[in-house]
Amino acid sequence: MKLEGQFAIVTGASRGIGAEIARHLAAEGATVALVGRRSEALEETARSLDGNRGRIFTADLRDAPEIAGLSRSVHASFGRVDILVNAAGVWRDEHEKFHGPNLADTPEGQIDEVVDVGLRASMLLSRLVLPGMIENRRGKILQIACGFAGPHEAKGWLHYYVTNKAIEAFTAGLAAEVRSHEIQVNCIAPWFVASEAVVRMFPSEAKTALATGDVAKLAGFLVSRDADHISGQTIELRSKLDQT
Ligand SMILES: NC(=O)c1ccc[n+]([C@@H]2O[C@H](COP(=O)([O-])OP(=O)(O)OC[C@H]3O[C@@H](n4cnc5c(N)ncnc54)[C@H](OP(=O)(O)O)[C@@H]3O)[C@@H](O)[C@H]2O)c1
Repeated sequence: MKLEGQFAIVTGASRGIGAEIARHLAAEGATVALVGRRSEALEETARSLDGNRGRIFTADLRDAPEIAGLSRSVHASFGRVDILVNAAGVWRDEHEKFHGPNLADTPEGQIDEVVDVGLRASMLLSRLVLPGMIENRRGKILQIACGFAGPHEAKGWLHYYVTNKAIEAFTAGLAAEVRSHEIQVNCIAPWFVASEAVVRMFPSEAKTALATGDVAKLAGFLVSRDADHISGQTIELRSKLDQT
């Protein structure tokens, strides 16, 4: 197992892509801090992990003091963090996708939520795990962004597009900043992934979408020692069935 004895944080672990990445890291031997707001959903993810390797930490990633508390609790429980996967992101709520209106008609609170969870929380949490990684001279930070063909696809969800482009820039910039400390920072930018929500909200795209496991397998590789020579990269993933 490639991640035996490693301690990981996975945000967005209560469902979808984050939950699948958590399962994959646990199957490779890591102990995983499962982060989200909904404890019942996190418990369900924890039950699906190999070897009782999940630990539940609830936090609202819009809130800086909660992010600081999360970091303190995980460090107190694990002693160190080897891997951080920032998979939490917002492109929908329980009822609707955040896609459609142009910027002038997008609610202010929705812009805040998309940017705060997708980008700001990743920066704040990375900032809090880095001192320990620097001291240990090892660490992996992985972002999950979203692939776009170009700015024309931003129409109707400019807040989400800008957030994801910024995540890519954050990845490249942070990788350069921490390269000398032997810490690697990378990003996976998948196109449509057939999570339960995508199947429900984008039924026609879901037919040719990636599986959550496709993203999780690449994530498992990028946070392993096999990928020590890869940093600062954003890897786009697109289903071979997607011909658009
Ligand atoms: N699905 C796709 O087709 C696709 C494609 C490309 C990229 N992505 C990206 O992949 C990531 C996961 O996508 P997904 O489709 O699996 O998303 P999802 O099903 O909507 O799940 C979002 C996750 O983020 C967590 N989250 C949201 N707001 C939060 C908050 N304020 N505090 C803490 N956690 C919060 C949710 O946990 P709680 O609800 O428990 O808080 C949940 O675990 C996102 O970054 C998304 O942009 C998705």
